[in-house]
Amino acid sequence: MIRFLVPFDLRRLPVLDAEILIVGSGAAALRAALEASLARRVLVVTKNRRQESNSYHAQGGVAAAVGDHDSAESHIADTLRVGCGLSDRGMVEIVVREGAELVRELIRWGAPFDRADGRIAFGREGGHSLARVLHYRGDRTGAMIETTLLRRAAKARNLRILENTFAVDLVTFRGACHGALVWTPAEGLRWARARATILATGGAGQLYRETTNPGVATGDGMAMAYRAGAELMDMELMQFHPTTLYLAGAARALITEAVRGAGGILCDRKGRPFMKKYHPMAELAPRDVVSRAILDHMLKTRDTQVYLDVRHLKTVRRLFPKLAELADQYQLNLAKDLIPVRPSAHYMIGGVRIDAFGRTSVRNLFACGECATSGFHGANRLASNSLLECLVFGRRAGAAAAAEAMLPVPKFSASERGRVRAGVELDLDDLRNALRSILWRNVGIERDAAGLQYALDSIDFWSGYVLDRTFDTPEGWELQNMLLLGGLMADSALRRRESRGVHSRRDFPRTDDRRWLRHIVVRRESAPRLVANAE
Ligand code: FAD
Ligand code: SIN
Repeated sequence: MIRFLVPFDLRRLPVLDAEILIVGSGAAALRAALEASLARRVLVVTKNRRQESNSYHAQGGVAAAVGDHDSAESHIADTLRVGCGLSDRGMVEIVVREGAELVRELIRWGAPFDRADGRIAFGREGGHSLARVLHYRGDRTGAMIETTLLRRAAKARNLRILENTFAVDLVTFRGACHGALVWTPAEGLRWARARATILATGGAGQLYRETTNPGVATGDGMAMAYRAGAELMDMELMQFHPTTLYLAGAARALITEAVRGAGGILCDRKGRPFMKKYHPMAELAPRDVVSRAILDHMLKTRDTQVYLDVRHLKTVRRLFPKLAELADQYQLNLAKDLIPVRPSAHYMIGGVRIDAFGRTSVRNLFACGECATSGFHGANRLASNSLLECLVFGRRAGAAAAAEAMLPVPKFSASERGRVRAGVELDLDDLRNALRSILWRNVGIERDAAGLQYALDSIDFWSGYVLDRTFDTPEGWELQNMLLLGGLMADSALRRRESRGVHSRRDFPRTDDRRWLRHIVVRRESAPRLVANAE
């Protein structure tokens, strides 16, 4: 297993100095940066434009028990129920209770959530027992939250954001992290040297052929952390969103669950509803249930998609402007046509294992947001709980990193020699597509041992000639990260011999609490192990 993707010699690399380095610029990164910059010099590096992130694309909203009709207890109960026994209760309490405070803070910072008669208008989404999702212009919540945080970041002292700056690997010395190797087309490789580093690199949806995630979601932070020796957890748990637009040639755009919350109905091509046959909450059942029901119904009807019926919803265009725009682009008339949809990979529940303060198992290395996992989501994420988690663990990681970054970076040297550059030219797009197809088919909504083993063998084979190469652009590094993670995801999915939440095994259809009320933790060069919550 290689430690670094690129050759370097720290003694010769230009240095970018900061007290705290944050990788990523989504909601988790920005909330962490705002907190840490109260006390420390913070450098944020992000591989694309600063807005480009899952956070910016979030639609339905942020779940928070801030309404008079709601309570933290009810939000906690819904989160635990949807988590299917694997949630860490302590983490759930923290996120729900602190999250409500941080959403109020966001409102004080100017976040203009939708209101009706002057009061916040709450939406309802799958798995929630009542309406508790705050949103902006219906389905544009992520862009608004990201913009609110970026505006605040622009005013913060001690906070600098570098765009188009790709973090390739973490720099470690004697088991502690001292920043990262970062790359830009103009400057090449540099050492972003820091007393503490926070990974907030988001999810890994791009590992799947069908995904709601933007191109930046290639799981780089998880792969970097793994190479640096950090523990990853729950890598078998990828959540699929039930409704993405499915039209040949069209992007797999997400159609927010809030549309079903407002009365949208899933049906077959003749307009016949089917969800009641699968779950008493019908369209608003938890996501894993709805995704599997759609898959089953597609098989039964021999169709490649199901349909979302919003023809009866007179206010749909006003309530969901993003959906209206999408429909116009593809000449769908929402008042007359059914919308073809199917599930797509959406949210990575697994990631870098963290404690309640965002600390990873590597000293001075913190993580928050979608690239991290604390056990908060259990085996299935409750809709709109992740923006909330980003705010809470972002703030906690930022505060802890700032408090613990006392000592200056020690003097040390490190280097890595280059590997094979020459040889057969690789078609990176072809490999990326092959990997995404194999994960979609074999590590997808339904899995079994034969398919998982096939995925693992194929990934091992490709890794044999891709991982020991030296690439000099992000396309190659992303592919290397995706291969590493794809293998870990297939392997963990093969090990969890039961069905629970988003992990559904055809060959082990039952939930097995006796053996599997545990998380699978993987670490470089040591065998995977099982741990209980709070262990
Ligand atoms: P992100 O927002 O994804 O940010 C990751 C950042 O890291 C990006 O800036 C990226 O460019 C950067 N990065 C990655 N790798 C590198 C690297 N190697 N070097 C430098 N920078 C790097 N959740 C909800 O709660 N409510 C919703 O309504 C909702 N809707 C969603 C709709 C869509 C279409 C999608 C895709 C997700 C949705 N989610 C929703 C999930 C939620 O948006 C994400 O889980 C959350 O925003 C993740 O935030 P983050 O800060 O952890 O990561
Ligand atoms: C959606 O709007 O349906 C996505 C919400 C989420 O992923 O939490």
